[in-house]
Amino acid sequence: MTIVLVEFSEAEIEIRAVRDTVFGDEQNVPQEINWDGNDEECLHVLARGRRGKVVATGRLAPDGKIGRLAVLRLHRGKGVGARILRKLLEAARVRGLSQVYLHAQAQAVGFYEQEGFQLCGAPFSEGGITHRHMVLAFQDDGGETG
Ligand SMILES: CC(C)(COP(=O)(O)OP(=O)(O)OC[C@H]1O[C@@H](n2cnc3c(N)ncnc32)[C@H](O)[C@@H]1OP(=O)(O)O)[C@@H](O)C(=O)NCCC(=O)NCCS
Repeated sequence: MTIVLVEFSEAEIEIRAVRDTVFGDEQNVPQEINWDGNDEECLHVLARGRRGKVVATGRLAPDGKIGRLAVLRLHRGKGVGARILRKLLEAARVRGLSQVYLHAQAQAVGFYEQEGFQLCGAPFSEGGITHRHMVLAFQDDGGETG
């Protein structure tokens, strides 16, 4: 599996295929939320299988919001989601962000906690799914952020 950072325009069709399958078909997230018009300004991370097929995706917005993390069902539970998330965290640090945040689906809170995210505030509904606000502040280690 190869994990790469891309602009939306470089891989729009492949990103759309994964998000339409996971958020659209599987989770019934409304189109206007899945495709909120913010993708152009975000950095995107993809996971490509051995034959080049994109099996997972996620994005980082300029304000440090991580989101749209989706792994095709067949490829879950193999560490792909964690690798996408770590690449997004690395990109955030390289950009000089001091912290990142996200809106986690309640069922995925444990996944983000494993990478150090902390719950913040009360549950809320987004696209008919219960979410939690989560934050990860980077340690000021004087390294990658400079
Ligand atoms: C949530 C999702 C991105 C996780 O991706 P994944 O590739 O299956 O996760 P990984 O295999 O990298 O898991 C990394 C660790 O998190 C844990 N984990 C994975 N999904 C979890 C979940 N839903 N709740 C709690 N822990 C979870 C794994 O057990 C693993 O722990 P380990 O290292 O101790 O074995 C994936 O299940 C997915 O795409 N789900 C549908 C879309 C979705 O819910 N996206 C998140 C929106 S906020």
